[in-house]
Amino acid sequence: MPFNPLQERGIPLDDQVRDWRELNVTPIDPDHADPYTRCRIITMNGIETEAIFFSHQLARHCPDIELKQQLARVRYIEAQQQKAVNWLLPGASSVLETTIAYEQVAVDLTSWVARMEPDPYLRQAYEFGVLEDFDHLYRYANLYEMIEHRKAEKIVDNLTEVMPGRPTVRHHRHPMDNVREPYDRNTTAPVSKLHALTIMSAEQQTMNFYMNVGPMYMEPIARRLYQEIGLIEEEHVTHYESLVDPGESWWEMLLNHEYNECYLYHSFMETESDPKVKNIWELHLNMELEHLRLAAELFKKHDGRDPEQVCAPELPAPVTFEPNKGFIRDLIATQIDYTTLGTGYVQEAHERFERMQAALMNGDQPPSERVIEDNRARSGREYRLETEGEHPVPSLALHR
Ligand SMILES: [Fe+2]
Ligand SMILES: [Fe+2]
Ligand SMILES: [Fe+2]
Ligand SMILES: [Fe+2]
Repeated sequence: MPFNPLQERGIPLDDQVRDWRELNVTPIDPDHADPYTRCRIITMNGIETEAIFFSHQLARHCPDIELKQQLARVRYIEAQQQKAVNWLLPGASSVLETTIAYEQVAVDLTSWVARMEPDPYLRQAYEFGVLEDFDHLYRYANLYEMIEHRKAEKIVDNLTEVMPGRPTVRHHRHPMDNVREPYDRNTTAPVSKLHALTIMSAEQQTMNFYMNVGPMYMEPIARRLYQEIGLIEEEHVTHYESLVDPGESWWEMLLNHEYNECYLYHSFMETESDPKVKNIWELHLNMELEHLRLAAELFKKHDGRDPEQVCAPELPAPVTFEPNKGFIRDLIATQIDYTTLGTGYVQEAHERFERMQAALMNGDQPPSERVIEDNRARSGREYRLETEGEHPVPSLALHR
């Protein structure tokens, strides 16, 4: 059934504040929950975090006190939503277990977006990035086996494979080469704007998470691996945020943010397997419909345009968490040696890339290589979860 969020009524803003009892959500079961329920929670936490930060930035550029007050009212609700969503994660999971789930989100969400993206340049950006987060999953899974003596299949549950992607050491590009060309806001498909906002927000949350939790470890290899991958998530945020047309006005950006929140809550409501979590997605959708209506009013008033000119006339197909094993294997077979040069892609290591590599490595082995070697030494072999057979690149296959 077509669903146009611009035509729907939500919950009035004054009725959206929740009391302590309502905010005190029951977390999902750490051992028996659907891994993709956890992925949806992590995704929506990233989306709500972006909603809050974006609204703060807008408020800091807004001289009108009444507008600032309205932004503060909606933002307080976004902050309550973020609490309700992120507090669905169980305290029993370790930071490293949550990290592995973050990388599973990056793999299966970015793969889905790449598969659905109509614009070839944007699709290439997602295909490029997903092979890197896929490799991060493998590095963290080896750290997990080494320091927590557990296996990542307990978390990803055979839905996502764990094996080398583009090797993490090759992700350290010159920062100039992380900037992509933006889409054109006047001609791009509305779904492309939603994709870019979603992946940008998810990667930003991953970047923030690693920058905060990395130093909480005692083990030197864990501290160092979070530093290394944290720096790559900075590259990923640069890569994905540069896809968004910087010519969008603040009100157009606000409208896109609220529309995207509606899209994702609606998607997850449609695809959620846990009924209690599904109720939260539905409640939040009904809140977002009102946020969207308010953003649409501001857009009409300040930009003098009709929201229908900017937004999709109905929600695109629901964002779905599902295995992407064949898709990833094809990318590994064809794009593992890609890097970037300027705003495009090349297969050879160019001078600027090598210069950055030399400055960062300075003759040392990076933590992402060290973690695999250390785990091989300790566990007798490295950790992988290859459910569909040997690694597609012969030089990266395990010789059994
Ligand atoms: Fe929200
Ligand atoms: Fe990553
Ligand atoms: Fe990433
Ligand atoms: Fe919102």
